[in-house]
Amino acid sequence: MKFFIILTVLFGVFCTMNEAIPVKTFLRVQNQLGGPNLTIHCSSSEDDLGIHVLVNDMYFDWHFRPNVWGSTKFKCDLQWEHGSGTYTVYKNDYVQLCPVHCYWYVKPEGPCLQSDEPDRQFCSPWQGSEAKRFGELDSGGDMVEETIVQDIRNSHFP
Ligand SMILES: *[C@@H]1O[C@H](CO)[C@@H](O)[C@H](O)[C@H]1NC(C)=O
Repeated sequence: MKFFIILTVLFGVFCTMNEAIPVKTFLRVQNQLGGPNLTIHCSSSEDDLGIHVLVNDMYFDWHFRPNVWGSTKFKCDLQWEHGSGTYTVYKNDYVQLCPVHCYWYVKPEGPCLQSDEPDRQFCSPWQGSEAKRFGELDSGGDMVEETIVQDIRNSHFP
């Protein structure tokens, strides 16, 4: 009987804990360069997902549970023949933009985050100097991160 009570209590604790754990987030980085290969290397402070070469239209994906403190952050080094850069592909601030699926489409102009709602993409220019042929692109990914954050604030927290 004691054993049964302990089991019941443990089960209750487990269920309560489970509710407190954030839902899974699905990340995907897809090569939409229209021909060239894309080399990616994604990591968080805890996981190194390795280096992968993606042919056109191919994607690399993974999922995780953001930690309860909201400090989970993934970044990817992206490189192709005309551009490169390191981009934050997930952090807590993006949660309004892509609550479950954070899909990145990597285009000749740069990587773009597809937002769930509204149906919009937030694009970031290449950071590497090879990217200059695509235009004014000397700014880093941080500026675009700021843009994303501001956009979240403007559309959801007026
Ligand atoms: C792209 O990668 C594939 C697989 O690694 C390779 O077979 C192919 O030659 C590469 N293409 C280019 C244009 O580098």
